[in-house]
Amino acid sequence: MPETESSVVPKYLEENRELSQECKELIPTLPLEKGWVASHLHQYQGFWHTTRQLQGLLSCQNHFQAHHTDLLIVTTPKSGTTWLKAWTYSLLHRHKHHPTNQNHPLLTHNPHFLVPFLELDLYIDNSSVPDLSSLPSPRLFSTHLPFVSLPKSVTQTSCKIVYLCRDPKDAFISLWHFTNSLRLQSMGANSLHEAFHKFCRGVSLYGPFWEHVLEYWQKSLEHPSKIMFMRFEEMKLKPEFVLKELATFVGCPVSREEEEAGVVQEILKLCSFDNLSNLQVNKNGKLSSGEAHQAFFRRGEIGDWKNHLTVEMIQQLDGITEEKLGQHGLRF
Ligand code: A3P
Repeated sequence: MPETESSVVPKYLEENRELSQECKELIPTLPLEKGWVASHLHQYQGFWHTTRQLQGLLSCQNHFQAHHTDLLIVTTPKSGTTWLKAWTYSLLHRHKHHPTNQNHPLLTHNPHFLVPFLELDLYIDNSSVPDLSSLPSPRLFSTHLPFVSLPKSVTQTSCKIVYLCRDPKDAFISLWHFTNSLRLQSMGANSLHEAFHKFCRGVSLYGPFWEHVLEYWQKSLEHPSKIMFMRFEEMKLKPEFVLKELATFVGCPVSREEEEAGVVQEILKLCSFDNLSNLQVNKNGKLSSGEAHQAFFRRGEIGDWKNHLTVEMIQQLDGITEEKLGQHGLRF
């Protein structure tokens, strides 16, 4: 039988699969909006989530037990999560897997496989809660969850958080392209105009963008040894400096011998857009939830918004950013 579109609906579009009783009872009480890819977004603890994500969030809040030695990569969607996962994984495992090793796991595995999301991978399936207790430390996980929704043990332990965000104009354009690439042909694309107004209203994946960033910004100022605040733009503009800062923060600083031997440059090369995006695994593979690996590599540049946004749109987005973040000393 030829594959029809309906017979290959990816998991990320399966909204009502195996929801817990808690999730089923919660959903009707939450504000609802039309989604960018899946049909619905639900507002929980002030932020917007797809139905699957919400189930993963609840399960993660109920079951995830952070360890003192854990590392958690937290990002706003489309801010360079895939890249930061590759950096952090390579840093932590460089003694076992040298970045020039021909068998390096990043050459055959997508960074999202090596550093799974809590709410989107590990806890997405309500029927099977994973046993992560015996994983070797430091355990490395990731999430897009806003600070307010993190499982309690994350804040109650000395688990460290590396937070990454990006100029909202680029984050928005990247999200618009990404979500359109996930929509089935029969759904058509979301117009830039429609998506823009949703994003500005805060109705986007894990949005509002600005509140997500602000929470982590403020917490990082209060607890700099617990939360490292990073921006995509800094990763692009001064990669060596930021990579070394990250190494120190996560507890595996780059030694002088390593630096002289070129390890920093070798990690940057391994994790570069050109290298990762041209690997077979990233050209052809898919996440277990159905998204093509390719969708996580588009241009990888600063400022693509200039090719898409009108002057009015730029003014509007910049205005919101200044109003919500500028007063807190945060500018992009
Ligand atoms: P663009 O859509 O602007 O190209 P995330 O990983 O959080 O989903 O973010 C995806 C964004 O990061 C995309 O941005 C993607 O191209 C970019 N990206 C992915 N890998 C990268 C890398 N190795 N270097 C730089 N940017 C990268």
